[in-house]
Amino acid sequence: MRPYVLVVSEVSLDGKLTLSKGASSKLLLSSMEEEAFKYLHEVRAKVDAIMVGCETVRIDNPSLTVRFVSGKSPARVIPCSTGDIPLDSNIFSPDAPTFVAVSKRAPKERIEALKEVCSGVLILGEERVDLELLLSELYNMGFKSLMVEGGAILNYELFRLGLVDELRLIHIPLVVGGQDVPSLVGGQCLELPVKFRLRSHFKRGSQLISEWEVVK
Ligand SMILES: NC(=O)c1ccc[n+]([C@@H]2O[C@H](COP(=O)([O-])OP(=O)(O)OC[C@H]3O[C@@H](n4cnc5c(N)ncnc54)[C@H](OP(=O)(O)O)[C@@H]3O)[C@@H](O)[C@H]2O)c1
Repeated sequence: MRPYVLVVSEVSLDGKLTLSKGASSKLLLSSMEEEAFKYLHEVRAKVDAIMVGCETVRIDNPSLTVRFVSGKSPARVIPCSTGDIPLDSNIFSPDAPTFVAVSKRAPKERIEALKEVCSGVLILGEERVDLELLLSELYNMGFKSLMVEGGAILNYELFRLGLVDELRLIHIPLVVGGQDVPSLVGGQCLELPVKFRLRSHFKRGSQLISEWEVVK
C-alpha cells in the first residue's frame, strides 16, 4: 500500500519549472498571484505529507509550510541518497515534522547529523533512495496522501515508476525557453507516455489552474 500521490507544479506556458538552469523557482513564482498561492497552500493543508527532491531543497530552500491560508502544515519528506542537505535548511523549521530518506550510500556521520535536526532518517535503497519502499513506509507511518512539489528529476522517477495518481498545474503566463531549463518532468524519454483525464480547470485571480487524473 502507498499514499495517494498528487504532483503539484507551478509551470510556465512551455512547461518550465524555473527561469534558467540552476535558478530558484522563486524567480518564476514572482509572477504568481496571491490567489494562486492561496490555492497552493490550500492543497498543502489538505495532505498528510509533502515531498520535494533534495536539489530543490539546495536551490530553493523552501519551508513547504502552510502560510497563505489557515491550516496545518503537512509532514515534510526529502529523498536524498547521501543526505547532502544543509542542516540549517528551512525544511528543518519546527513548523512540521521532517523526514529525510537516504540510501545505504549515506555516510554514518551524515545520518547522525541529520537525526539532530529532523524527526527521522529512513534508510531505503542501495544506491538511490527506493521510492516505492519510501512510499510504502510513509503509508505505514500513517501518511495516506502525499503532495509532490518537484523538481523535474523527482517527478520523472515517480512518473516512471507509475506512482502518480493526480497532477495539478498552476500555469504561469510566461514562455521561458531553453533546452537545459528543467521542465515538469526531466530524465529520459518515458517508455510509454503517461495519459491523463482533465478533471477540472478554473482561474484563481487571473491564473489558470488545471487538475488532471492519471488514466491507469
Ligand atoms: N516550479 C515548481 O513548481 C518547482 C518545484 C520544485 C522545484 N523547482 C525547481 O526545480 C529545480 C530542481 O529540480 P531538479 O530536477 O534539479 O531536482 P529535484 O527533483 O528537486 O531533486 C532531485 C534529487 O533528488 C534526489 N533523489 C534521491 N532519491 C531519488 C530518487 N529515487 N529519484 C529521484 N531523485 C532522487 C537526487 O539527489 P541525490 O542523488 O543526492 O540523492 C536527485 O538529484 C530547481 O531549479 C527548482 O527551483 C520548481
